[in-house]
Amino acid sequence: MTRQGNSPTLGELLEPFAHRCEQDLGRWLIEPGVPGTLAEAMRYCTLGGGKRLRPALVHMAAEACGRTGSNLTARAAAAIEMVHCCSLVHDDLPAMDDDTLRRGRPTAHVKFGQAMAILVGDALLTRAFGLLAKADDRRSGRLTCELARAAGAAGMVAGQVADMDLCQLPEGLEGIRFIHLRKTAAMLRAAARMGAICADADDKTVDALGDYAEAIGLAFQLFDDLLDVTGAAETIGKTPGKDAGADKRTAAAQLSLDGARKLGNELTDRAIASLESLGEKADTLICLTRLPALRTH
Ligand code: IPE
Ligand code: IPE
Ligand code: MG
Ligand code: MG
Ligand code: MG
Repeated sequence: MTRQGNSPTLGELLEPFAHRCEQDLGRWLIEPGVPGTLAEAMRYCTLGGGKRLRPALVHMAAEACGRTGSNLTARAAAAIEMVHCCSLVHDDLPAMDDDTLRRGRPTAHVKFGQAMAILVGDALLTRAFGLLAKADDRRSGRLTCELARAAGAAGMVAGQVADMDLCQLPEGLEGIRFIHLRKTAAMLRAAARMGAICADADDKTVDALGDYAEAIGLAFQLFDDLLDVTGAAETIGKTPGKDAGADKRTAAAQLSLDGARKLGNELTDRAIASLESLGEKADTLICLTRLPALRTH
């Protein structure tokens, strides 16, 4: 990754949050009574990989609202990463993107078979909501609703349905925006909102942080689409060229490189503008805004 001035790279910025998330996932992922083979597959799909952007956003948003390191924030961060890992396992299935490489390793269905991959997704999704419910906190109902809305049939699942061409979509860039808003930005939006809710932020701040993360999410998927064209398997940890091969509606198919960069810059500006009311407390979040464009994986 290119370094600019003294700014951290995406990896450096996310590292402390990723470390914390890894520990929390390790402790909360497997409940007593899970069959050993399922536990092994759940660990494989969740631990030891991934940038942990969504959990980092939960923690960063809570920090920007003046609260760090609470048990509830850690639960929210682990829960959203479990839902994300579920979405990746299902996204890679032969019936969907039919991918064999994820996070630099064989995908779940290649390693454990399709039946286990489907069931791992079910287990991760269910565990995420159980973890939030078990927090026994006055905010857990609200956190659950945020995650359910982002992940569900009007959020990430809708985005995946649209991505698979299973519903009607507007033409051109509007269609791309429809897909990106739902399959990716909705979960990032929820991550930031959940962090703010854990910190007892007022509604205006929760909305501002959500708007910020939605713009980051759109930029993140924009550059994910470009990386599918320009990236190498060793760096991106997944198979390049899958989108074009499957004739997917992507930003790369709709925009020139310059057009994509321009849109990326607009989204960065929009993200930064959303943080105005937070002042200096938003420094880490501002630092994150220029990093989707510098993604290498
Ligand atoms: C991949 O997400 C799926 C998209 C929404 C683009 P990430 O790029 O965050 O994947 P990991 O978690 O780092 O592997
Ligand atoms: C996946 O989008 C989005 C979700 C998993 C919800 P992609 O299909 O572009 O993600 P990658 O490129 O396989 O990570
Ligand atoms: Mg996909
Ligand atoms: Mg995919
Ligand atoms: Mg992709």
